Amino acid sequence: MERRAAILGTGHYLPTKVVTNDDLAQIMPTTHEWIHQRTGIRERRFIEESGIGASDLAIPAVKMAVEQAGRELKDVDAVLFATLSPDHQFPGAGCLLIHKLGLPGVPALDVRNQCSGFLYSLSVADAWVRAGVYKNVLVVGSEVHSTGVEFNERGRDVAVLFGDGAGAALIGEATRPEQGIRALELHADGSGAYDLWLEAPASKFNPRLTHEMLDAGKHYPHMNGKKVFKHAVTRMPQAIMEGMIANGLKLDDVDMVIPHQANLRINQFVAKMIGLPEHKMHNNIQKTGNTTAATIPICMHDAIGLGKIKPGDLVCLVAFGAGLTWGSAFLRY
Ligand SMILES: CC(C)(COP(=O)(O)OP(=O)(O)OC[C@H]1O[C@@H](n2cnc3c(N)ncnc32)[C@H](O)[C@@H]1OP(=O)(O)O)[C@@H](O)C(=O)NCCC(=O)NCCS
Repeated sequence: MERRAAILGTGHYLPTKVVTNDDLAQIMPTTHEWIHQRTGIRERRFIEESGIGASDLAIPAVKMAVEQAGRELKDVDAVLFATLSPDHQFPGAGCLLIHKLGLPGVPALDVRNQCSGFLYSLSVADAWVRAGVYKNVLVVGSEVHSTGVEFNERGRDVAVLFGDGAGAALIGEATRPEQGIRALELHADGSGAYDLWLEAPASKFNPRLTHEMLDAGKHYPHMNGKKVFKHAVTRMPQAIMEGMIANGLKLDDVDMVIPHQANLRINQFVAKMIGLPEHKMHNNIQKTGNTTAATIPICMHDAIGLGKIKPGDLVCLVAFGAGLTWGSAFLRY
């Protein structure tokens, strides 16, 4: 029988420092009302102190996912690390993570697909497991944003959206006949690359970073919020429909949608567009902000813990983000 890959366990970790909208309003010109009305976000978590990287946040999330899967760390035979905020430009955060986990020799691949990074990584893990290349593949999404945004008027449109955190999933061969990943749809379109990007330091410039670039804030992300919003509400419904058509599924078959957590209003809009009842979508951005590649595993783990996803449920994961990138996955948990 054909081998099928499944999510065997999930885990998450959020730093302990809670930052409310009112806390942000103390340090830059913004208000709780502005942030909450447009995004649904009430609070997010930030790392407690300088020196904590994406690979550090991933450790507890990974341990939780491995334990939930009924496996041990030594069973992990490959790591995919999705992040747009790796500890350093290079080497990859995955290499740092396997060192910290005590897994020398295990291959580690960083995936740089921003908010769609978890789905892109899941696709690679799915292919590896089905092809028999690796048995237990750890997929990690982890981000430290709080050190990479500017808390002032210039950066406030971006700074209020993001939070720090990590999520993880262990992918292995399905253990029940109905369980497993059914469909994965991935897309990218570089024509929108500069609608959400970070310009410098950049290898195309010599030197890669200058004092002038720092003064101009080119080392902070820049976003065309309205265009990104439009991208999200167009591409996410498309990706969901595409996955359903590829699998001969109806919306009624879907038990739970876990969308990327960029903006609650975007997700509510997407649900309305496809006619999805409110109780079939789980959101937790209210408490986490946008943790980019980590949102989907964090949100899925949250939904499992709340009993909103049970074994045998058909789950749809859907994402969009910088690149521009977007995609969906359908799986039986
Ligand atoms: C960011 C976003 C919430 C902004 O909403 P918007 O409807 O585009 O913004 P509005 O037109 O309502 O408001 C813009 C005004 O608010 C101001 N503003 C921006 N950020 C602000 C903040 N944090 N607090 C207060 N005011 C702010 C702007 O300066 C602008 O002022 P102006 O009208 O005087 O020029 C929205 O565009 C969005 O969510 N886009 C998608 C972003 C996203 O998901 N990114 C991650 C992708 S993975």
